[in-house]
Amino acid sequence: MRKKIIAGNWKMNLNYAEALSLVDTIVDQMEDDGLAEVVLAPPFIYLRDIVSRVQGSTRLSIAAQNCSQFKNGAHTGEVSSSMLSSVGVECVIVGHSERRAEQNESNEILKLKIDRILEQFLIPVFCCGETAEERKNGSHSEIINRQLEQSLFHLNEAQLLSCVIAYEPVWAIGTGKNASIDQIQEMHSLIRKQINHHYKNNIGENISIIYGGSVSVSNAEEIFSAPDVDGALIGGASLKAADFTLILKMMEKMLSSRMV
Ligand code: PGA
Repeated sequence: MRKKIIAGNWKMNLNYAEALSLVDTIVDQMEDDGLAEVVLAPPFIYLRDIVSRVQGSTRLSIAAQNCSQFKNGAHTGEVSSSMLSSVGVECVIVGHSERRAEQNESNEILKLKIDRILEQFLIPVFCCGETAEERKNGSHSEIINRQLEQSLFHLNEAQLLSCVIAYEPVWAIGTGKNASIDQIQEMHSLIRKQINHHYKNNIGENISIIYGGSVSVSNAEEIFSAPDVDGALIGGASLKAADFTLILKMMEKMLSSRMV
């Protein structure tokens, strides 16, 4: 079975005390033996302390929200994948649409970031998604294909298998307007098909593809019922421990019902 993942992207929110309190509350509310993996992506400056806070939890890992495309050196303000690895970070979100838009991150730059992340044996959570305009003019599938081809498909089979993909339509992020269940299933299945088209052995069937874009307690259950959805990348609702852990429980309920 593919890994099921519930990830929280805290973005540029919370002060230090609030961040520690959020992670402590989430850990308290999580059961030790749940079926889904949990990933939390706090801002860089809190990573080391939060990593030490969750040590010992077997199914919770900490992600960075970005890393540099360079290995090291004169890149003021940047954080390298080896620095992240050295403080116990295990995953890195890469290609989030906010960074694509605000920091002009191109598919080519993201390709370099993916290489840096994999060099350190970290797990990339690669975000792809179309804008409202691209959805409207019908180019959404083409856009996703290009994002995958230009940033991921240079990887070998083993490398690709260590990636998680997040489908995040830009128009659904932070808007309260999630994609419909049919749109989500269609795009997740398309991503899987594209992977199978480029690689042998149907490896697309083994890669976790999670959905992001206004996931909340009111729509998570329906989203998780789509067969190609392996979890969620959650922004706004991940800042409330009660909402985040409730969404996690919804995923676990669905997983245990599939096992009987
Ligand atoms: P949202 O953000 O849940 O607030 O829409 C999702 C994301 O940006 O990953």
